[in-house]
Amino acid sequence: MEIRWIRHDKVTSTNLLLAELQMQRKAKEGMVIIADYQEGGKGQGSNSWHSRKGENLLMSMLLFPAFLSASHQFHLSRLVSVAICEVLESLGVRPVVKWPNDILANWAKIAGILIEHGISGGSISHTIAGIGLNVNQKEFPEFPHAATSLLLETARHHLPRDVGDQLAKRIVVRYHELKEGRENELEQDYLGRLLGMEEASLFEAGGTSFEGIIKGVSPYGELLVEHGGKLLCYRHGEIILKKA
Ligand code: BTN
Repeated sequence: MEIRWIRHDKVTSTNLLLAELQMQRKAKEGMVIIADYQEGGKGQGSNSWHSRKGENLLMSMLLFPAFLSASHQFHLSRLVSVAICEVLESLGVRPVVKWPNDILANWAKIAGILIEHGISGGSISHTIAGIGLNVNQKEFPEFPHAATSLLLETARHHLPRDVGDQLAKRIVVRYHELKEGRENELEQDYLGRLLGMEEASLFEAGGTSFEGIIKGVSPYGELLVEHGGKLLCYRHGEIILKKA
């Protein structure tokens, strides 16, 4: 897959722009849109994604994973999480993944992922992998939760586009692995970085708090938590990890 870059000073959202190009059949697999600023950056759910102009990495990459069934979307989210962690590690950060795909460093969010798929005939016809990675921003007034950046973690400035370049290359390597059916490697690399894995942690679900142990994540992306001798299965939004 050839990585093709499109750079913009300002967009509404890199995910949105890539979706438009894909709809108009103007985008090939491996196309990456990167922008200095988003006027309407999208976060998970109904959240927005704020990022100061020129300070951070805002990118979206297009993949055509028709080899994956719609029910296996989590493979892509896992792949992107691992690729981000690998890049951060190469730059001296020790990230963890907070299920399903928040990337934290020292308990603060350093990167967020928004994956959007097109489904056709039961398979994933296209995937837009949107990544917001905090690079040089030092203050995060808009964030409701603690946030950090590469600069805060490493005391060094980095060029967002260089970080993006490394990241796109790691995504391609991991994507080929997935395509070749080597999802076990990806699973191990994801679980090895998963916050709370095999540790007694505090959760909240259905209005109650309880202690449990994360045992893994199902192929469908559900969190598997051992509690009271049972293995419970939670979908995104059904459980909150309060303390690991
Ligand atoms: C999250 O809420 O954690 C996900 C944030 C994803 C933000 C990125 S920034 C680049 C891409 N374009 C968007 O509009 N959102 C994603």
